[in-house]
Amino acid sequence: MPELVSMRTDGDVAVITIDNPPVNAMKHEVRVSLLDLVVRAAGDPAISAVVIACAGRTFVAGADITEFGQPPRQPTAIAIIEAIEASPKPVVAALHGTPLGGGLELALGCHFRVAAPGTRPGLPEIKLGIIPGAGGTQRLPRLVGMDKAMAMILTGEPISAREALDSGLVDEIVEGDLVAGAIAFARRIVAGKRPLGLVRNRDEKLVSVRDIAAFDAAAANYTRRAKGQNAPAAAIAALRGAITLPVADALKRERDLFLELVAGDQSKAQRHIFFAEREAAKVPDLAGVKAHDIRKAAVIGAGTMGGGIAMCFANAGIPVTVVESDDEALARGLDTVARNYRNTAARGGLAADEMEARIRRITGTTDLAAVADADIVIEAVFEEMDVKQEVFGRLDRIVKGGAVIASNTSYLDIDVLARSTARPQAVLGMHFFSPANVMRLLEVVRGAATSPETLATAIAVGRKLGKVPAVVGVCHGFVGNRMLRLRSIEAERLLLEGALPQDVDAALTDFGFPMGPFAMADLAGLDVGWRMRKAQGLTAPIADELCERGRYGQKTGRGFYLYDRGSRTPQPDPEVERLIVDAAARRGLARRALGKDEMVERLLFPMINEGARILREGIAQRPGDIDVIWVYGYGFPVYRGGPMHYADSVGLRYIRDRLAAFAETTGDERHRPAPLLEELAAAGKGFASLRG
Ligand code: CAA
Ligand code: NAI
Repeated sequence: MPELVSMRTDGDVAVITIDNPPVNAMKHEVRVSLLDLVVRAAGDPAISAVVIACAGRTFVAGADITEFGQPPRQPTAIAIIEAIEASPKPVVAALHGTPLGGGLELALGCHFRVAAPGTRPGLPEIKLGIIPGAGGTQRLPRLVGMDKAMAMILTGEPISAREALDSGLVDEIVEGDLVAGAIAFARRIVAGKRPLGLVRNRDEKLVSVRDIAAFDAAAANYTRRAKGQNAPAAAIAALRGAITLPVADALKRERDLFLELVAGDQSKAQRHIFFAEREAAKVPDLAGVKAHDIRKAAVIGAGTMGGGIAMCFANAGIPVTVVESDDEALARGLDTVARNYRNTAARGGLAADEMEARIRRITGTTDLAAVADADIVIEAVFEEMDVKQEVFGRLDRIVKGGAVIASNTSYLDIDVLARSTARPQAVLGMHFFSPANVMRLLEVVRGAATSPETLATAIAVGRKLGKVPAVVGVCHGFVGNRMLRLRSIEAERLLLEGALPQDVDAALTDFGFPMGPFAMADLAGLDVGWRMRKAQGLTAPIADELCERGRYGQKTGRGFYLYDRGSRTPQPDPEVERLIVDAAARRGLARRALGKDEMVERLLFPMINEGARILREGIAQRPGDIDVIWVYGYGFPVYRGGPMHYADSVGLRYIRDRLAAFAETTGDERHRPAPLLEELAAAGKGFASLRG
């Protein structure tokens, strides 16, 4: 096995190479060896410069996240950076891939940085609920200026190699062999006797931002969007130190804030999601199964979802044929797609030539035969079984052998659809979320007959489209919508019991959801659910009555809320309040004031209970999969880790007891604690204990 960190010499230049696949995370053993070699090189009279590089696909992509939450072990990255700064010889970081987090901080501690084209450096700690803890908030603004540093640290997004060069983050882009280029760079530094200034002592880019008021105004743009989260405010506090404190004090402040965050619940939840996201697409019996190559795709239906799904393929560089039932619907669908692209381009999100290229990758037709050579076909026609079955039957006669045939259905039985073909092994569900070109979640629904190759291909396609695939089994509504249904029932019940739509929505937005259930329902259109309930003989007392009055939500300017012409801002409506009060009176219900905490429990605990049933039935493989689905598909606040992680943090005994009490008062059997929840609660365990 190659050493984790090794050193070789190239003349008088020492090259230290880190080799810890897959992403060269700086785990404890790496830190120990790296420190040792940096100190040795610095003290070796035969060495006049040092290059730090990495083997494999990337420069250090950060600390080893699995070590967080454990007692810190020396040396930390800070000790390594201090050793580099104490070196009398230039230390050059040779960057490639994704130098992230502690990896970029290590590079910022070096005297110089060179990078391969395509390198994408960043400080993504905020996405893990923490802030850089090894000087990133102090050294980055000194190199690239406060505005850019703030943007990088507060969004966590990496920048391109070009931006890194232009902003001063790297000193040179090396075409060709990176390490050879870094060695040549180091030799030029030595030959030119360039002084070894330390990044921490640079001040020129901070002089202009000593204006605290301007800093605070810029910071507010980020913290405003980060309600409820601790890391953004801490990042701002640390960055502020760069302009208000001596650097040593500011570094200490950053470290203290980092340590506090890393020990906190929010970071724990976000780390859980980081790993759960990567696990959700893993299926034990798929090991070694190869995904098919996808060169051409087809989408059936160019409505809300079909258009968005086609954009996903076009964005990923895959040509896609869109099939509609008639010319008019096709033109409408393609127009919407083109308008979406033009809006993105107009906002500066897409270059004009790239926009054109993407639009060109989408071909429209009304002839289903055009999908004959597609490697994957995704059906997104009306949510009606007979319509879909007919489409699947026809696809079976047209689509080439080996291709994947997927349905974007929200609720319908994939196994029934599969049986409408003579090749059920090629069929599965690929449930995208609206807007499909934006939302990251992809529920991959494995049918009873779906072959491992079909499943592996769908997962690989999902990744290629930039989605987060989560594999689930067949049931009505799969994981996400099945749980959502319980929340919707409860939200209506809360109205009858005493709340107003704005109260219920506020309870959930305060909890951290971007939108409450009623604002969400108005956005999606109340008529959709109404039609579905009617077909199934179900009711939702308030929503049904709103629909009967022609209040379909934003599209009609009125729903649970009122909307001014062209506005998307929900305004409470006295007519809705009267409607609710009357509906409660007709049922003989005495309305009462409901507290926010009570509402949150009433909305979330039944969902968690359903999650327990879903796990027991094997519809979801792991609690973390459910969490990923809720975070990426339904806006569950990532810093609470998804419903099942949140349940563990609340304690399952408490949830079980509350559910039992709800069952008594509502008489709703679905509130009876699920057997799995009962068992875990009785054993004093959490859902996390189910991990194998
Ligand atoms: N620590 C531990 N494991 C990590 C890791 C890390 N920093 N980064 C990635 N991994 C693991 C993943 O869990 C995954 O494991 P499995 O194969 O077992 O699922 C494997 O490495 C490959 O990762 P991806 O599947 O994500 O690979 P990718 O090529 O799609 O993406 C990446 C690579 C861009 C580096 C991405 O993994 C990533 O964003 N990683 C996290 C980077 C990060 O957040 N770094 C900052 C850490 S915090 C820090 O550094 C602060 C500090 O020091 C004070
Ligand atoms: P939509 O009504 O906007 O679009 C459906 C399109 O399919 C229409 O343009 C229609 O002309 C076309 N179509 C109907 N029959 C056809 C046929 N035989 N051949 C070709 N085209 C045909 O519906 P939407 O919202 O896009 O939903 C499509 C599917 O996606 C449904 O199964 C729905 O449950 C599912 N879905 C919807 C989500 C949403 O938020 N709208 C979210 C996730 C899934």
